[in-house]
Amino acid sequence: MAKPTRNDVIRCYRQFLGREPESDAVVASHLKGVKDVWSLIEKFMNSHEYQARLRERFKKETPLNVPLTVKKPSAQPSAGRLRSQDVSAIEREVAFAIGQGNLRSIVQRFSWFHSIDLGQGVITEGRKSAEIVAQEAETLFRPVSLSGKSLLDIGAWNGAYSFEAKRRGAARVVAADSGNWHTGKMKGFEAFSVARAALQLDIEDFVLNIEHELPDNFGPFDIVLFSGVFYHLRNPLFGLANAARLARECLIVETHIETRDGLSMTFYPGRELAYDPSNWWGPTEAMMVALLRDNGFRQVDVSNALAQIDNRRIFHAWR
Ligand SMILES: C[S@@+](CC[C@H](N)C(=O)[O-])C[C@H]1O[C@@H](n2cnc3c(N)ncnc32)[C@H](O)[C@@H]1O
Repeated sequence: MAKPTRNDVIRCYRQFLGREPESDAVVASHLKGVKDVWSLIEKFMNSHEYQARLRERFKKETPLNVPLTVKKPSAQPSAGRLRSQDVSAIEREVAFAIGQGNLRSIVQRFSWFHSIDLGQGVITEGRKSAEIVAQEAETLFRPVSLSGKSLLDIGAWNGAYSFEAKRRGAARVVAADSGNWHTGKMKGFEAFSVARAALQLDIEDFVLNIEHELPDNFGPFDIVLFSGVFYHLRNPLFGLANAARLARECLIVETHIETRDGLSMTFYPGRELAYDPSNWWGPTEAMMVALLRDNGFRQVDVSNALAQIDNRRIFHAWR
């Protein structure tokens, strides 16, 4: 992965500390001895200033005294496709903006998770940089033959991996999500629709809460991608079993893991994992392999999600 730049440092200041760096010299000092963007992000997340900001935001909570309402899941819309008038309106607006050379004005309305090159020199400024998306996509998809296959992307959010699967030859790609597609703040579905329209890729969308009973006549798919979702589930064994049922050939799981030996999962009742109340469970690597085998997969291959990050893994589970 490339070395971080001054712009990466400035973005970290804005995102994690909510302010501009004091001086150019301070920016330069952050670049010393940092080998990649992830290390830089980790450095900011571990900084006293960031931790103090988080404590200030969540000061009423302690891990042992979490108000019960904090982690209540919100009501979700029911499963199904979202091809609505709204999507057509977005598509028309994107086509018009592209015609005017003004795609950037639409992209700037959204908060992005994936950095995606939409053409016309516009790259969405996501929390996951374009380099990280590219590196992860390579680890997720390299071992899988996508040509002519169907793929379901559970928890697609902005859709970077759905788009990549289509580019790599998948015949049918369904991007599915629930939470972030519908919270007013994230506007995840609108952002996904803008990217899909700008890239002009034939990707289906589907509202799917993987912790609910699966809708009738949905799937199976040759390949199911389950990236960054497992640890967000309150009932991860039910969610994983659903994802497994949908996978005919290979289930690809990317997840946070607890880096210790043995078969166990850590429960996070509050904000213990990255101060994020939407994180619930952290399996060990061995636990995830055992769960996948228990769901009927004959072989499970494990890779590091990102070379420099120790607590994320990608599991390719084969029928
Ligand atoms: C950390 S993001 C991962 C996004 C993308 N898959 C990636 O790996 O970059 C987690 C995504 O999973 C979605 N998600 C969380 N719980 C879900 C559920 N029960 N069913 C479907 N999607 C869910 C969230 O809305 C969010 O878009």
